[in-house]
Formats: sequence, C-alpha cells, structure tokens
Amino acid sequence: MSDVNRQVVLRQRPSGLVGPDDVELVEAPMPQIGDGEALVRNDLVGVDAAVRTWLDGQPGYLPALELGDPVRAATVGTVVETRCDAYEVGDVVTSLGGFSDYSVSLDDLFTTRVGGPDDDVDRGAMLAVYGSTGATAYFGMHDIGKPQEGETVVVSAAAGATGSIAGQIAKEKGARVVGIAGSDEKCRVAVEEFGFDACINHRTATSNATWPRRCASTARSGSTCTSTTSAGRSSTPSSAASHRAGASSCAA
Ligand SMILES: NC(=O)c1ccc[n+]([C@@H]2O[C@H](COP(=O)([O-])OP(=O)(O)OC[C@H]3O[C@@H](n4cnc5c(N)ncnc54)[C@H](OP(=O)(O)O)[C@@H]3O)[C@@H](O)[C@H]2O)c1
Repeated sequence: MSDVNRQVVLRQRPSGLVGPDDVELVEAPMPQIGDGEALVRNDLVGVDAAVRTWLDGQPGYLPALELGDPVRAATVGTVVETRCDAYEVGDVVTSLGGFSDYSVSLDDLFTTRVGGPDDDVDRGAMLAVYGSTGATAYFGMHDIGKPQEGETVVVSAAAGATGSIAGQIAKEKGARVVGIAGSDEKCRVAVEEFGFDACINHRTATSNATWPRRCASTARSGSTCTSTTSAGRSSTPSSAASHRAGASSCAA
C-alpha cells in the first residue's frame, strides 16, 4: 500500500459556484490506525448539497470545515486494515470519508457496514437511493408528508437526488405527483424515467403569480399539494418548505 494519501482540501470559502481555486489536491501521510479504528479505501464519493454548507461555513448538523480541512463528503469504501471488532478486512462500509483516497472509520453513527468481503454491493446505490438522499426522501414522505391516495404531491428539485426518490415514493402511495424542475430535459426525465404525472419547468414561468395557477392546472380539482425538499430558493406555492428537508402542504 502507498504511504501517501491524496486528499482534496479546502483553501478558501467559495463565492458563487465552487471553483478550482477554492480547493487543492494534496498528498498527506497515510493514516495509522489505533485500537477501535479501521482504515478504509474510499471507492466512491458523493457530491451532496450538504457539502456546500460545510464549505461555506454555515451552521448545521455537523461543524463547518476549517480552511485546510479535507473536504467532507459521503463515501462508500472497503476496509483494508482493521483494529476494530465491528469490521473485517474486505467489508464494504458507507461513511463520511470525504475527498480522500483513505480515511479512518470507527464503530459509530457515521459508518455503516453494508456488506462483507464476498458480497456484491451496489456501491452507487449506497450513496443514492440507500444513502442520505434516499433516506431523506423516505422519511420526508412516510413520516412528514404522508401522502394519501387521491392527493396531489408537488415535488421541487424533482430531478434531483432527493426529489426524484420522494416523487417515486409518493407515486407508490397512490398520489398524483407533479414535479418542479429547472429545464425541459429535467422535466422529461421526471415524467418519462421517474414516473411523475407532470412536471413544471420553473424557468419558463413569467412571474410568481403564475405558480398557483400552474400548480392547480396540473393537480386534480380540490386536491392537496404537498411539497418536499429543494436545494435552495424557489418561487413555488410552497416556497417556505423549499429551504428545509421536510414537507408541507398547500391548497391547490
Ligand atoms: N437532511 C438531510 O439529511 C438531507 C439529505 C439529503 C438532502 N437534503 C436536502 O435536500 C435538498 C435537495 O438535495 P439533493 O441532494 O436532492 O440535491 P440535488 O440533487 O443536488 O438537487 C439540487 C437541485 O435543487 C434545485 N435548486 C433550486 N433552487 C436552487 C438554488 N438556489 N441553487 C441550486 N439549486 C437549486 C436545482 O434543480 P432545478 O434547477 O431543477 O430546480 C438543483 O439541481 C437540499 O436542500 C439538501 O440539503 C437533506
């Protein structure tokens, strides 16, 4: 094994879109594990919306990154060395290993063993539908939105990682599902590939006033609109819900 661990570290907080000068690829020493720790080779890294909040220094459920820190992100990796009873070499784990070739995992909340050395684990799915975005969509719909048959569910960021799953769960519950997305192509994907009943391109709306009308025209008369997550600001009828992972209702 190499004694070098490549990492992408934060050099400056981004302004606008993240740019090449905001981060730097560096070579750090390979971590040495202690008792209760496992060394994980990160096979896949997820670029989730939460990463941006950590780069920006915003308060959240985890501390913001400091300048010079490796960029934190969700990972799927393989245990290559272990002094932790919870893992054996070859185990596949999801963790917050970040943009590093290797990271150290503990037997704690942030690392989950998802397969053993002989299991054929779909690593991509572990970062998506079985990862935090899938879980957010699941709990947002099952525990908060609770769509009922005959209702219309409106999903913002419909083509995104969370929204696409949220919409499919709502469909499974028997609701009619209307997506909101930022391009015709995203809307096509939402309808043709994710099975949404309809999708509105928010960039072609001429004013905020058109939203209630457009929502109503795609929903059944007298139905309820339930909105789920979005990554940022949105001028939908349910804009208050667009800033948080959760769901809310509005009359259509
Ligand atoms: N609490 C949790 O554990 C958890 C887990 C996962 C996700 N989330 C939250 O759920 C939301 C969606 O996450 P995701 O992973 O599904 O994101 P994503 O796949 O990256 O989707 C992001 C989409 O949001 C839309 N958007 C709306 N307003 C935006 C703005 N001002 N700037 C950038 N994008 C904007 C864009 O789609 P359009 O152009 O099509 O509108 C964008 O493609 C985020 O707020 C995220 O923090 C929370």
